Amino acid sequence: MWFQASSGLLLLLLSPCLAVQFREPPAPTRQSTRTPVEGWIDVRLNHFMASDTQTFKMRYYYNDEFAADNIVIVVGGEWQITPGYLTGGLAYELAEKSRAALFYTEHRFYGLTRPFEDTSLPGLAYLTVDQALADLAQFIEYVKSDNFENGRYRNAKVALEGCSYAGSMVTWMRLAYPHLVDAAFSDSGPLYAQEDFPEYLEVITEAIRSQGSEECLTSIQQGMERVVELLGTTNGANQVSQMFRTCSPIDASNALDVATFFWYGITETFAYLVQYARPGQIAQACAALNNNTVSDPAQRLADWITSRPTTQPCVKSKYSDEVTNHRNTSFDSSDATSKSSFPSSRNVYRTKHFARIT
Ligand SMILES: *[C@@H]1O[C@H](CO)[C@@H](O)[C@H](O)[C@H]1NC(C)=O
Ligand SMILES: *[C@@H]1O[C@H](CO)[C@@H](O)[C@H](O)[C@H]1NC(C)=O
Repeated sequence: MWFQASSGLLLLLLSPCLAVQFREPPAPTRQSTRTPVEGWIDVRLNHFMASDTQTFKMRYYYNDEFAADNIVIVVGGEWQITPGYLTGGLAYELAEKSRAALFYTEHRFYGLTRPFEDTSLPGLAYLTVDQALADLAQFIEYVKSDNFENGRYRNAKVALEGCSYAGSMVTWMRLAYPHLVDAAFSDSGPLYAQEDFPEYLEVITEAIRSQGSEECLTSIQQGMERVVELLGTTNGANQVSQMFRTCSPIDASNALDVATFFWYGITETFAYLVQYARPGQIAQACAALNNNTVSDPAQRLADWITSRPTTQPCVKSKYSDEVTNHRNTSFDSSDATSKSSFPSSRNVYRTKHFARIT
């Protein structure tokens, strides 16, 4: 078969891919015995300025286990790539069915694909969707050229698969470079840019309702109402800080500190639960959230929140500390990727994440 849907686009609504965070979704179960090969190509820093000949090294992984005629490329998004996506899962199965070579590309400014020494501001001018799509176009042209394994893929059909932001990218690739991209599989690609995006948490809520219970949502709601009430007084705010083990006491008079607590303590914790859930894990969380041996709903919520891997060792609650962390221009700083935020094309992709504040 070749992809019957090659003139259309397959859009799925919900997958582990609807990212709020800047890490690769967990790799699929391994099916291949092959170890993908790491490769690098020189790509142009600025695809839209003919006189600018600077390049940087873009990383990719490659598995030619099924390679005959075609190419499937897993498109990396705002994360560091790992070989696991080329040894099992959707793209691997697509490659098997279509006798395709399998590649995984790393997005500029993420992982080890670093156009500059650091992430200081002038360099971030090159972190745009359009440049990243042009990187992919250059990559496809290279793999189909005689310079790659003697032109082995000269006549290949090319399918892209991507999720979340990379799901949007593959859609845009098919539209912008139809001569290079025959099919695009967009998994949870947020195509409709929106500044305030409540629909994200609505999906999280629905998942908790359908895989947990209505009671679970009620319990969370009661816990949240109690937390909001407690944050109304200094004593109450101290209580919340202790219950949720915040890294420093919440200053309830500082709206940005309160927002920081809600983001790292509550929103991200539930987002992680649903986004990366394996079967049974949401029900398990709800068993704790519904724990009727703990009568205070805020305490119940806090017990569960503080047991989660993403809230260790403490819940961040000081906005100014986060601004400092996000100003660190080292690629190796823990917030390097979230600082870069989503690449912005005319700024539509700036999210609620802490964008660089100057
Ligand atoms: C319910 O809370 C009690 C007391 O904190 C605890 O021992 C128990 O493990 C909890 N049960 C669940 C399902 O979390
Ligand atoms: C920035 O992050 C790097 C890597 O984690 C760290 O070594 C460095 O000390 C940080 N710089 C500052 C100014 O905090």
